[in-house]
Amino acid sequence: MSIRTVIRGGLVVTASDEIHADVLIEDGRIAALAASGTTAAEAWTAERVIDATGKYVIPGGVDAHTHMELPFGGTFASDTFETGTRAAAWGGTTTIVDFAVQSVGRSLRDGLDAWHAKAEGNCAIDYGFHMIVSDVNQDTLKEMDLLVEEGVTSFKQFMAYPGVFYSDDGQILRAMQRSAENGGLIMMHAENGIAIDVLVEQALARGETDPRYHGEVRKALLEAEATHRAIKLAQVAGAPLYVVHVSAMEAVAELARARDEGLNVFGETCPQYLFLSTDNLAEPDFEGSKYVCSTPLRPKEHQAKLWQGLRTNDLQVVSTDHCPFCFVGQKELGRGDFSKIPNGLPGVENRMDLLHQAVVDGHISRRRWIEIACATPARMFGMYPKKGTIAPGADADVVIYDPHAEQIISADTHHMNVDYSAYEGKRLTGRVETVLSRGELVITEREYTGHAGHGAYTPRSTCQYLN
Ligand code: URP
Ligand code: ZN
Ligand code: ZN
Ligand code: ZN
Repeated sequence: MSIRTVIRGGLVVTASDEIHADVLIEDGRIAALAASGTTAAEAWTAERVIDATGKYVIPGGVDAHTHMELPFGGTFASDTFETGTRAAAWGGTTTIVDFAVQSVGRSLRDGLDAWHAKAEGNCAIDYGFHMIVSDVNQDTLKEMDLLVEEGVTSFKQFMAYPGVFYSDDGQILRAMQRSAENGGLIMMHAENGIAIDVLVEQALARGETDPRYHGEVRKALLEAEATHRAIKLAQVAGAPLYVVHVSAMEAVAELARARDEGLNVFGETCPQYLFLSTDNLAEPDFEGSKYVCSTPLRPKEHQAKLWQGLRTNDLQVVSTDHCPFCFVGQKELGRGDFSKIPNGLPGVENRMDLLHQAVVDGHISRRRWIEIACATPARMFGMYPKKGTIAPGADADVVIYDPHAEQIISADTHHMNVDYSAYEGKRLTGRVETVLSRGELVITEREYTGHAGHGAYTPRSTCQYLN
Protein backbone atom coordinates (compact mmCIF):
# COMPACT_ATOMS: atom_id res chain seq x y z
CA MET A 1 0.00 0.00 0.00
CA SER A 2 1.14 3.50 -0.76
CA ILE A 3 1.14 5.73 2.30
CA ARG A 4 1.63 9.48 2.44
CA THR A 5 5.38 9.90 2.30
CA VAL A 6 7.87 12.77 2.34
CA ILE A 7 11.42 12.36 1.08
CA ARG A 8 13.44 15.09 2.75
CA GLY A 9 16.74 16.78 2.06
CA GLY A 10 17.96 15.04 -1.09
CA LEU A 11 19.22 16.43 -4.35
CA VAL A 12 16.41 15.78 -6.82
CA VAL A 13 17.96 15.04 -10.20
CA THR A 14 15.84 14.82 -13.34
CA ALA A 15 16.75 15.09 -17.01
CA SER A 16 16.22 18.85 -16.82
CA ASP A 17 16.97 19.96 -13.24
CA GLU A 18 18.99 19.45 -10.08
CA ILE A 19 17.34 20.96 -7.02
CA HIS A 20 17.56 20.47 -3.28
CA ALA A 21 13.91 19.67 -2.72
CA ASP A 22 11.57 17.65 -0.55
CA VAL A 23 9.18 15.36 -2.40
CA LEU A 24 5.63 14.67 -1.23
CA ILE A 25 4.01 11.38 -2.31
CA GLU A 26 0.28 10.73 -2.06
CA ASP A 27 -1.80 7.89 -3.50
CA GLY A 28 1.18 6.45 -5.33
CA ARG A 29 1.95 9.66 -7.19
CA ILE A 30 4.23 12.64 -6.77
CA ALA A 31 1.97 15.25 -5.14
CA ALA A 32 4.42 18.16 -4.86
CA LEU A 33 8.04 19.27 -4.68
CA ALA A 34 9.22 22.17 -2.52
CA ALA A 35 12.69 23.53 -1.82
CA SER A 36 14.10 21.83 1.28
CA GLY A 37 14.00 23.92 4.44
CA THR A 38 11.27 26.26 3.21
CA THR A 39 8.08 26.72 5.22
CA ALA A 40 6.10 25.11 2.40
CA ALA A 41 8.12 21.90 2.66
CA GLU A 42 8.32 21.95 6.48
CA ALA A 43 4.53 22.19 6.70
CA TRP A 44 4.04 18.80 5.07
CA THR A 45 3.09 16.02 7.43
CA ALA A 46 3.33 12.39 6.42
CA GLU A 47 3.04 8.91 7.85
CA ARG A 48 6.46 8.07 6.45
CA VAL A 49 9.47 10.36 6.26
CA ILE A 50 12.56 9.25 4.34
CA ASP A 51 15.75 11.16 5.06
CA ALA A 52 17.68 11.61 1.82
CA THR A 53 20.29 14.04 3.11
CA GLY A 54 23.49 13.64 1.11
CA LYS A 55 21.71 11.39 -1.41
CA TYR A 56 20.24 11.81 -4.87
CA VAL A 57 16.51 11.48 -5.37
CA ILE A 58 16.05 10.26 -8.94
CA PRO A 59 13.26 8.83 -11.08
CA GLY A 60 13.12 5.04 -11.16
CA GLY A 61 15.02 3.67 -14.12
CA VAL A 62 13.16 2.74 -17.30
CA ASP A 63 14.77 -0.23 -19.04
CA ALA A 64 13.17 -0.39 -22.47
CA HIS A 65 14.85 -3.60 -23.60
CA THR A 66 14.60 -6.83 -21.60
CA HIS A 67 13.96 -10.49 -22.42
CA MET A 68 12.64 -12.33 -19.37
CA GLU A 69 12.07 -16.05 -20.04
CA LEU A 70 12.87 -15.60 -23.74
CA PRO A 71 12.97 -18.90 -25.65
CA PHE A 72 16.19 -18.59 -27.67
CA GLY A 73 19.01 -20.77 -28.92
CA GLY A 74 17.31 -23.98 -27.75
CA THR A 75 16.86 -22.78 -24.18
CA PHE A 76 15.19 -20.02 -22.15
CA ALA A 77 16.58 -16.80 -20.70
CA SER A 78 17.17 -17.72 -17.06
CA ASP A 79 15.37 -14.81 -15.39
CA THR A 80 11.62 -15.16 -15.04
CA PHE A 81 9.47 -12.06 -14.79
CA GLU A 82 9.55 -12.62 -11.02
CA THR A 83 13.30 -12.94 -10.57
CA GLY A 84 14.17 -10.44 -13.30
CA THR A 85 11.91 -7.64 -12.11
CA ARG A 86 13.08 -8.14 -8.52
CA ALA A 87 16.68 -7.82 -9.68
CA ALA A 88 15.73 -4.75 -11.71
CA ALA A 89 14.31 -3.14 -8.56
CA TRP A 90 17.53 -3.89 -6.67
CA GLY A 91 19.31 -1.96 -9.39
CA GLY A 92 17.00 1.06 -9.26
CA THR A 93 14.85 0.23 -12.29
CA THR A 94 11.11 0.54 -11.75
CA THR A 95 9.78 -0.05 -15.28
CA ILE A 96 10.79 -2.56 -17.91
CA VAL A 97 9.53 -2.95 -21.45
CA ASP A 98 9.95 -6.58 -22.44
CA PHE A 99 9.55 -8.20 -25.86
CA ALA A 100 6.56 -10.42 -26.57
CA VAL A 101 7.31 -12.76 -29.46
CA GLN A 102 5.21 -13.64 -32.50
CA SER A 103 6.14 -17.15 -33.61
CA VAL A 104 6.22 -17.81 -37.34
CA GLY A 105 2.76 -18.96 -38.45
CA ARG A 106 1.06 -17.52 -35.37
CA SER A 107 -0.66 -14.19 -34.72
CA LEU A 108 0.68 -11.21 -32.82
CA ARG A 109 -2.25 -11.70 -30.43
CA ASP A 110 -1.16 -15.25 -29.55
CA GLY A 111 2.32 -14.01 -28.75
CA LEU A 112 1.13 -11.07 -26.72
CA ASP A 113 -1.33 -13.22 -24.74
CA ALA A 114 1.46 -15.67 -23.95
CA TRP A 115 3.70 -12.88 -22.64
CA HIS A 116 0.91 -11.39 -20.55
CA ALA A 117 0.40 -14.82 -19.00
CA LYS A 118 4.09 -15.07 -18.10
CA ALA A 119 4.22 -11.63 -16.50
CA GLU A 120 0.86 -11.12 -14.83
CA GLY A 121 0.94 -11.45 -11.06
CA ASN A 122 4.69 -12.06 -11.05
CA CYS A 123 6.36 -8.68 -11.42
CA ALA A 124 7.84 -6.57 -8.64
CA ILE A 125 7.83 -3.44 -10.81
CA ASP A 126 5.73 -2.08 -13.66
CA TYR A 127 6.11 -3.48 -17.15
CA GLY A 128 5.02 -2.97 -20.73
CA PHE A 129 5.52 -4.91 -23.93
CA HIS A 130 7.01 -4.37 -27.36
CA MET A 131 6.08 -6.95 -29.97
CA ILE A 132 8.64 -8.95 -31.95
CA VAL A 133 7.23 -9.35 -35.45
CA SER A 134 8.61 -12.55 -37.01
CA ASP A 135 5.98 -13.13 -39.68
CA VAL A 136 4.91 -10.09 -41.68
CA ASN A 137 1.72 -10.87 -43.65
CA GLN A 138 -1.59 -9.08 -44.22
CA ASP A 139 -3.08 -10.33 -40.93
CA THR A 140 0.00 -9.27 -39.00
CA LEU A 141 -0.13 -5.79 -40.52
CA LYS A 142 -3.78 -5.38 -39.48
CA GLU A 143 -3.00 -6.64 -36.00
CA MET A 144 -0.29 -4.00 -35.64
CA ASP A 145 -3.01 -1.31 -35.76
CA LEU A 146 -4.96 -3.03 -32.96
CA LEU A 147 -1.88 -3.42 -30.80
CA VAL A 148 -0.99 0.26 -31.13
CA GLU A 149 -4.52 1.15 -30.00
CA GLU A 150 -4.22 -1.03 -26.91
CA GLY A 151 -0.81 0.23 -25.84
CA VAL A 152 1.74 -1.99 -27.55
CA THR A 153 3.14 0.77 -29.71
CA SER A 154 6.54 -0.57 -30.79
CA PHE A 155 7.55 -3.52 -32.96
CA LYS A 156 10.91 -5.18 -33.21
CA GLN A 157 12.12 -6.58 -36.51
CA PHE A 158 15.29 -8.52 -37.19
CA MET A 159 17.62 -8.16 -40.16
CA ALA A 160 19.58 -10.98 -38.45
CA TYR A 161 18.77 -14.60 -37.49
CA PRO A 162 17.51 -16.02 -40.82
CA GLY A 163 15.00 -18.80 -40.17
CA VAL A 164 14.17 -17.53 -36.68
CA PHE A 165 13.11 -13.90 -36.29
CA TYR A 166 14.42 -12.63 -39.66
CA SER A 167 12.43 -10.30 -41.93
CA ASP A 168 13.53 -9.50 -45.49
CA ASP A 169 13.60 -5.95 -46.83
CA GLY A 170 10.11 -6.25 -48.30
CA GLN A 171 8.64 -7.38 -44.98
CA ILE A 172 10.48 -4.61 -43.20
CA LEU A 173 9.23 -1.99 -45.66
CA ARG A 174 5.63 -3.18 -45.27
CA ALA A 175 5.80 -3.04 -41.48
CA MET A 176 7.39 0.40 -41.63
CA GLN A 177 4.70 1.66 -44.00
CA ARG A 178 2.09 0.38 -41.55
CA SER A 179 3.79 2.04 -38.59
CA ALA A 180 3.97 5.31 -40.55
CA GLU A 181 0.16 5.16 -40.60
CA ASN A 182 -0.65 3.82 -37.14
CA GLY A 183 1.97 5.66 -35.10
CA GLY A 184 3.96 2.56 -34.14
CA LEU A 185 7.72 2.65 -33.78
CA ILE A 186 9.84 0.03 -35.56
CA MET A 187 12.79 -1.15 -33.46
CA MET A 188 15.46 -2.70 -35.62
CA HIS A 189 18.01 -5.39 -34.90
CA ALA A 190 20.36 -4.11 -37.56
CA GLU A 191 22.86 -6.76 -38.65
CA ASN A 192 23.07 -8.37 -42.09
CA GLY A 193 22.16 -11.87 -40.95
CA ILE A 194 22.34 -13.46 -44.41
CA ALA A 195 25.96 -12.37 -44.85
CA ILE A 196 26.82 -13.25 -41.24
CA ASP A 197 25.54 -16.81 -41.72
CA VAL A 198 27.94 -17.27 -44.66
CA LEU A 199 30.84 -16.07 -42.51
CA VAL A 200 29.75 -18.34 -39.64
CA GLU A 201 29.74 -21.37 -41.93
CA GLN A 202 33.17 -20.48 -43.33
CA ALA A 203 34.65 -19.89 -39.86
CA LEU A 204 33.37 -23.20 -38.54
CA ALA A 205 34.72 -24.98 -41.66
CA ARG A 206 38.17 -23.54 -40.79
CA GLY A 207 37.85 -24.97 -37.28
CA GLU A 208 37.30 -21.55 -35.70
CA THR A 209 34.88 -22.60 -33.00
CA ASP A 210 35.91 -20.43 -30.04
CA PRO A 211 33.55 -17.69 -28.69
CA ARG A 212 35.86 -14.96 -29.97
CA TYR A 213 34.91 -15.85 -33.56
CA HIS A 214 31.36 -14.76 -32.75
CA GLY A 215 32.75 -11.23 -32.64
CA GLU A 216 34.81 -11.69 -35.80
CA VAL A 217 32.03 -12.94 -38.08
CA ARG A 218 29.43 -10.42 -36.89
CA LYS A 219 31.39 -7.61 -38.48
CA ALA A 220 30.95 -3.94 -37.61
CA LEU A 221 30.59 -3.27 -41.35
CA LEU A 222 27.60 -5.61 -41.45
CA GLU A 223 26.01 -3.72 -38.55
CA ALA A 224 26.67 -0.43 -40.33
CA GLU A 225 25.31 -1.75 -43.65
CA ALA A 226 22.10 -2.97 -42.02
CA THR A 227 21.73 0.27 -40.06
CA HIS A 228 22.11 2.25 -43.27
CA ARG A 229 19.59 0.03 -45.08
CA ALA A 230 17.08 0.26 -42.22
CA ILE A 231 17.39 4.05 -42.25
CA LYS A 232 16.77 4.20 -46.01
CA LEU A 233 13.79 1.85 -45.78
CA ALA A 234 12.33 3.98 -42.98
CA GLN A 235 12.91 7.08 -45.06
CA VAL A 236 11.08 5.52 -48.02
CA ALA A 237 8.21 4.53 -45.72
CA GLY A 238 8.13 7.91 -43.99
CA ALA A 239 8.38 6.13 -40.64
CA PRO A 240 10.47 6.78 -37.55
CA LEU A 241 13.11 4.20 -36.66
CA TYR A 242 14.74 3.10 -33.41
CA VAL A 243 17.88 0.98 -33.79
CA VAL A 244 18.43 -1.33 -30.83
CA HIS A 245 21.70 -2.40 -29.21
CA VAL A 246 24.04 -0.29 -31.36
CA SER A 247 27.64 -1.40 -30.79
CA ALA A 248 29.68 -0.37 -33.85
CA MET A 249 31.05 3.14 -34.28
CA GLU A 250 30.27 2.83 -38.00
CA ALA A 251 26.60 2.33 -37.10
CA VAL A 252 26.68 5.41 -34.84
CA ALA A 253 28.03 7.36 -37.84
CA GLU A 254 25.06 6.18 -39.95
CA LEU A 255 22.64 7.33 -37.26
CA ALA A 256 24.40 10.67 -36.88
CA ARG A 257 24.28 11.30 -40.62
CA ALA A 258 20.56 10.51 -40.77
CA ARG A 259 19.83 12.72 -37.78
CA ASP A 260 21.80 15.56 -39.36
CA GLU A 261 19.37 15.25 -42.27
CA GLY A 262 16.55 15.74 -39.77
CA LEU A 263 15.20 12.19 -39.88
CA ASN A 264 13.37 10.66 -36.94
CA VAL A 265 16.05 8.03 -36.43
CA PHE A 266 17.06 6.99 -32.94
CA GLY A 267 19.68 4.75 -31.41
CA GLU A 268 20.04 2.71 -28.25
CA THR A 269 23.21 1.29 -26.85
CA CYS A 270 23.76 -0.94 -23.84
CA PRO A 271 26.18 -1.02 -20.90
CA GLN A 272 27.99 -4.07 -22.28
CA TYR A 273 29.11 -2.08 -25.33
CA LEU A 274 30.22 0.83 -23.17
CA PHE A 275 32.16 -1.19 -20.59
CA LEU A 276 33.13 -4.52 -22.22
CA SER A 277 34.98 -5.40 -25.43
CA THR A 278 36.28 -8.17 -27.68
CA ASP A 279 38.96 -8.71 -25.01
CA ASN A 280 36.23 -10.32 -22.93
CA LEU A 281 35.08 -12.50 -25.83
CA ALA A 282 38.69 -13.72 -26.14
CA GLU A 283 38.91 -14.89 -22.50
CA PRO A 284 40.28 -18.48 -22.39
CA ASP A 285 38.62 -21.72 -21.27
CA PHE A 286 35.31 -20.86 -22.91
CA GLU A 287 34.88 -17.93 -20.48
CA GLY A 288 34.37 -15.80 -23.60
CA SER A 289 30.95 -17.42 -24.02
CA LYS A 290 29.72 -15.31 -21.10
CA TYR A 291 30.03 -12.28 -23.36
CA VAL A 292 28.33 -13.63 -26.48
CA CYS A 293 25.49 -11.37 -27.50
CA SER A 294 24.33 -9.79 -30.75
CA THR A 295 25.22 -7.27 -31.91
CA PRO A 296 28.57 -8.44 -30.51
CA LEU A 297 31.03 -6.68 -28.25
CA ARG A 298 33.49 -4.60 -30.27
CA PRO A 299 37.18 -3.65 -29.92
CA LYS A 300 37.72 -1.03 -27.21
CA GLU A 301 38.10 1.88 -29.63
CA HIS A 302 34.36 1.76 -30.36
CA GLN A 303 33.54 2.73 -26.78
CA ALA A 304 34.68 6.35 -27.10
CA LYS A 305 32.41 6.80 -30.12
CA LEU A 306 29.46 5.36 -28.22
CA TRP A 307 30.05 7.75 -25.30
CA GLN A 308 30.37 10.59 -27.76
CA GLY A 309 27.10 9.56 -29.42
CA LEU A 310 25.40 9.61 -26.03
CA ARG A 311 26.72 13.10 -25.33
CA THR A 312 25.75 14.50 -28.75
CA ASN A 313 22.32 12.82 -28.70
CA ASP A 314 23.08 10.71 -31.76
CA LEU A 315 22.32 7.89 -29.31
CA GLN A 316 19.40 8.65 -27.01
CA VAL A 317 18.83 5.62 -24.80
CA VAL A 318 20.80 3.09 -22.77
CA SER A 319 18.87 -0.13 -22.19
CA THR A 320 20.26 -3.45 -21.04
CA ASP A 321 19.02 -6.01 -23.60
CA HIS A 322 18.95 -8.16 -20.46
CA CYS A 323 18.87 -11.73 -21.77
CA PRO A 324 20.68 -13.93 -19.25
CA PHE A 325 21.85 -17.48 -19.83
CA CYS A 326 23.78 -19.41 -17.19
CA PHE A 327 27.32 -20.44 -18.02
CA VAL A 328 26.66 -23.97 -16.75
CA GLY A 329 24.26 -25.81 -19.00
CA GLN A 330 23.27 -22.86 -21.21
CA LYS A 331 26.30 -20.98 -22.57
CA GLU A 332 27.97 -24.42 -22.58
CA LEU A 333 25.60 -25.52 -25.35
CA GLY A 334 28.07 -23.81 -27.67
CA ARG A 335 31.26 -25.61 -26.63
CA GLY A 336 32.93 -26.58 -29.90
CA ASP A 337 30.62 -24.33 -31.97
CA PHE A 338 30.34 -20.63 -31.08
CA SER A 339 27.16 -20.33 -33.20
CA LYS A 340 25.32 -22.53 -30.69
CA ILE A 341 26.07 -20.29 -27.70
CA PRO A 342 22.77 -18.67 -26.67
CA ASN A 343 23.06 -14.93 -27.41
CA GLY A 344 22.54 -12.54 -24.54
CA LEU A 345 23.97 -10.96 -21.41
CA PRO A 346 22.58 -10.28 -17.95
CA GLY A 347 22.50 -6.67 -16.79
CA VAL A 348 19.10 -5.41 -15.71
CA GLU A 349 20.41 -4.95 -12.16
CA ASN A 350 23.59 -3.12 -13.18
CA ARG A 351 22.52 -0.42 -15.64
CA MET A 352 21.78 2.50 -13.31
CA ASP A 353 24.97 1.91 -11.31
CA LEU A 354 27.21 1.52 -14.37
CA LEU A 355 25.82 4.72 -15.83
CA HIS A 356 26.36 6.50 -12.54
CA GLN A 357 29.97 5.34 -12.75
CA ALA A 358 30.03 7.00 -16.18
CA VAL A 359 29.05 10.23 -14.42
CA VAL A 360 31.86 9.72 -11.89
CA ASP A 361 34.29 9.01 -14.75
CA GLY A 362 33.22 12.15 -16.62
CA HIS A 363 31.64 10.50 -19.68
CA ILE A 364 28.21 12.06 -19.11
CA SER A 365 26.62 14.59 -16.79
CA ARG A 366 24.32 13.69 -13.90
CA ARG A 367 21.29 14.98 -15.79
CA ARG A 368 22.27 13.12 -18.93
CA TRP A 369 22.43 9.95 -16.79
CA ILE A 370 18.77 10.42 -15.92
CA GLU A 371 17.88 11.44 -19.44
CA ILE A 372 19.29 8.35 -21.18
CA ALA A 373 18.21 5.89 -18.46
CA CYS A 374 14.82 7.24 -17.39
CA ALA A 375 13.30 10.21 -19.21
CA THR A 376 14.07 9.49 -22.86
CA PRO A 377 13.13 5.79 -22.78
CA ALA A 378 9.85 6.87 -21.15
CA ARG A 379 9.25 9.45 -23.89
CA MET A 380 10.45 7.22 -26.71
CA PHE A 381 7.99 4.51 -25.71
CA GLY A 382 5.03 6.63 -24.69
CA MET A 383 5.11 6.58 -20.88
CA TYR A 384 6.14 10.14 -20.04
CA PRO A 385 5.60 11.89 -17.63
CA LYS A 386 3.95 9.00 -15.75
CA LYS A 387 7.38 7.36 -15.87
CA GLY A 388 10.87 8.82 -16.20
CA THR A 389 10.66 11.98 -14.11
CA ILE A 390 9.88 13.40 -10.70
CA ALA A 391 7.10 15.92 -11.18
CA PRO A 392 3.61 16.47 -9.74
CA GLY A 393 1.26 13.85 -11.16
CA ALA A 394 4.01 11.37 -12.11
CA ASP A 395 3.97 7.88 -10.65
CA ALA A 396 5.98 7.89 -7.44
CA ASP A 397 8.69 5.65 -8.89
CA VAL A 398 11.62 7.07 -7.00
CA VAL A 399 15.14 5.93 -6.14
CA ILE A 400 17.20 7.23 -3.23
CA TYR A 401 20.72 6.91 -4.59
CA ASP A 402 23.86 7.10 -2.45
CA PRO A 403 26.50 8.65 -4.74
CA HIS A 404 29.35 7.94 -2.32
CA ALA A 405 28.77 4.26 -1.43
CA GLU A 406 31.34 1.86 -2.83
CA GLN A 407 30.43 -1.54 -4.25
CA ILE A 408 31.99 -4.40 -6.16
CA ILE A 409 29.77 -6.15 -8.69
CA SER A 410 29.65 -9.91 -8.22
CA ALA A 411 27.45 -12.90 -9.02
CA ASP A 412 27.82 -13.77 -5.31
CA THR A 413 25.76 -10.75 -4.35
CA HIS A 414 23.60 -9.93 -7.36
CA HIS A 415 19.94 -10.87 -7.55
CA MET A 416 19.64 -11.90 -11.19
CA ASN A 417 18.99 -15.61 -11.72
CA VAL A 418 22.24 -16.29 -13.51
CA ASP A 419 25.45 -17.96 -12.35
CA TYR A 420 27.91 -15.28 -13.45
CA SER A 421 28.23 -11.53 -13.76
CA ALA A 422 29.55 -9.92 -16.94
CA TYR A 423 31.06 -7.24 -14.65
CA GLU A 424 32.51 -9.55 -11.97
CA GLY A 425 34.90 -7.63 -9.70
CA LYS A 426 34.14 -4.20 -11.14
CA ARG A 427 34.38 -1.48 -8.51
CA LEU A 428 31.73 1.21 -8.60
CA THR A 429 31.06 4.39 -6.72
CA GLY A 430 27.37 4.85 -6.02
CA ARG A 431 24.61 2.47 -5.03
CA VAL A 432 20.86 2.23 -4.88
CA GLU A 433 19.64 2.56 -1.31
CA THR A 434 15.84 2.72 -1.41
CA VAL A 435 13.33 2.24 -4.23
CA LEU A 436 9.67 3.16 -4.37
CA SER A 437 7.29 1.94 -7.06
CA ARG A 438 4.05 3.94 -7.18
CA GLY A 439 4.78 5.05 -3.64
CA GLU A 440 5.33 1.55 -2.29
CA LEU A 441 8.71 0.58 -0.85
CA VAL A 442 10.26 -2.14 -2.98
CA ILE A 443 13.81 -1.79 -1.66
CA THR A 444 14.19 -0.25 1.81
CA GLU A 445 17.74 0.64 2.77
CA ARG A 446 19.15 -2.34 0.82
CA GLU A 447 16.45 -4.80 1.85
CA TYR A 448 13.84 -6.22 -0.48
CA THR A 449 10.41 -5.19 0.78
CA GLY A 450 8.47 -5.57 -2.45
CA HIS A 451 6.35 -8.42 -3.67
CA ALA A 452 5.57 -10.31 -6.85
CA GLY A 453 2.33 -9.00 -8.30
CA HIS A 454 2.89 -5.38 -7.26
CA GLY A 455 4.12 -4.58 -10.77
CA ALA A 456 1.32 -3.50 -13.09
CA TYR A 457 1.03 -3.76 -16.85
CA THR A 458 1.56 -0.32 -18.39
CA PRO A 459 -0.11 0.34 -21.72
CA ARG A 460 1.80 2.95 -23.69
CA SER A 461 0.98 5.83 -25.99
CA THR A 462 2.85 6.30 -29.27
CA CYS A 463 6.37 7.76 -29.39
CA GLN A 464 6.67 11.16 -27.69
CA TYR A 465 10.15 11.87 -29.05
CA LEU A 466 9.51 12.71 -32.69
CA ASN A 467 10.84 15.87 -34.33
O1 URP B 1 22.17 -11.22 -27.89
C1 URP B 1 21.09 -10.71 -27.72
N1 URP B 1 20.98 -9.42 -27.94
N2 URP B 1 20.05 -11.44 -27.30
C2 URP B 1 18.73 -11.00 -27.16
C3 URP B 1 17.96 -10.95 -28.44
C4 URP B 1 18.21 -9.67 -29.21
O2 URP B 1 18.60 -9.75 -30.35
O3 URP B 1 17.96 -8.61 -28.67
ZN1 ZN C 1 18.30 -7.83 -31.14
ZN1 ZN D 1 17.18 -7.79 -27.23
ZN1 ZN E 1 2.18 -3.87 -3.60
